[in-house]
Amino acid sequence: MPPPRTFAITTFGCQMNVYDSERMAEALVAAGYTAVEGAADLTVLNTCHIREKAAEKVYSEIGRLKKHGARMIAVAGCVAQAEGAEIMARAPGVDIVVGPQAYHRLPEMVARAAEKPVDTDMPLAPKFDALPPRARRVGPSAHLTVQEGCDKFCAFCVVPYTRGAEASRPADAVLAEATALVAGGAREITLLGQNVNAYRDADGVTLAQLIRRLARLPGLARIRYTTSHPRDMDDDLIAAHAQIPALMPFLHLPVQSGSDAVLKRMNRQHSAADYLRLIECVRRVRPDIALSGDFIVGFPGETDADFEATLALVSEAQYAQAYSFKYSPRPGTPAARAADPVPDAVATVRLARLQDLLFEQQAAFNRASEGHMVDVLFDRPGRLPGQLMGKTPHLQSVHVIAPGLAIGQIAPVHIVSAGPRSLEGTLAPMMHAA
Ligand code: 5AD
Ligand code: SF4
Repeated sequence: MPPPRTFAITTFGCQMNVYDSERMAEALVAAGYTAVEGAADLTVLNTCHIREKAAEKVYSEIGRLKKHGARMIAVAGCVAQAEGAEIMARAPGVDIVVGPQAYHRLPEMVARAAEKPVDTDMPLAPKFDALPPRARRVGPSAHLTVQEGCDKFCAFCVVPYTRGAEASRPADAVLAEATALVAGGAREITLLGQNVNAYRDADGVTLAQLIRRLARLPGLARIRYTTSHPRDMDDDLIAAHAQIPALMPFLHLPVQSGSDAVLKRMNRQHSAADYLRLIECVRRVRPDIALSGDFIVGFPGETDADFEATLALVSEAQYAQAYSFKYSPRPGTPAARAADPVPDAVATVRLARLQDLLFEQQAAFNRASEGHMVDVLFDRPGRLPGQLMGKTPHLQSVHVIAPGLAIGQIAPVHIVSAGPRSLEGTLAPMMHAA
């Protein structure tokens, strides 16, 4: 078989997988491969293991690729880490299995694909040391992984097993990568970590201190971070939201449930009241902060009263947006062994009720923007001629007819109407774009 020359990457799951796919693409380009859309010599599936549905998608995608004559398939990401060589046994069409901490070796693995290589080594540092520098051109909104892994061991979650123990990259390495991203055109950087607010490098630099250093980078207009754990939300990080204009007023802070009994069985290490108090502290210093969260319904043993407590917490906390899921038992996690599952039909009804409430809150949050001026970072073309799409500081999508503006610019926009999922605005007259 002649060696592959082209590649395509399909990404499932979270923003960290998006980041990993970019770095894999850069590594393949540096090794002489060309990125293409659609059919390629090498297809990489960057996979997600968080819920059963996500993990199963990989196998149907492998089947589909094989039917369409795919030449070489590499499975990367969290399913690769969790299932390793079992993937080859279950899907013989797979040539390469590479975990999230080993993908810097992907080009070399492609060269010896005939051996069906599997690499699920864990330590984080070698990957970042070995990857080629960032691409010379990047989009206006970039991702940057600063921390990986999780030591919290929530009873439902595979992350501590698929991404390993908490590890933070050195602040200097993060700063160097951020500098390269800004030089390549990034105006906004989202710092990524499974538990990003637990960030602490070997010299003791915290996330708040890292953000303060990044805020001094000329040309970097916006900084975000995700995902955070309530236990690691320290006072300095809260203060940073009041003090650093580049730190966007948006906080993704998952709570999972509003019931203390469920939170305890989930091993979340905080109560519903702890969470609400924390939100209050953040809002005291940054009243306009947009709150986002994650919820799980149907966790084993969840009663009607437990679920009502979740609805009550949502009503009190007031979310700008949120993600909610039906509990999915995952192999190897403590909750998967629980003896009191919630019937699927009950979980389905609860999820619909929760999502209705969250949707209402999101629509109300968006409606409150109507008539206001907001700064929008334009990051992609719209569907109509002359239309651009962008993001507000609160991470709402906005579409604007803006023929004179380019992607990557930030301009004040007058919000004329708000739907539940996006806003529509007009360019403010007499104002100059930054
Ligand atoms: N079932 C359902 N949802 C889950 N999440 C994590 N593990 C599971 C699971 N086993 C959700 C949590 C987490 C988000 C990333 O995914 O809400 O915050
Ligand atoms: Fe999973 Fe987040 Fe809990 Fe860690 S803190 S175990 S990543 S849900």
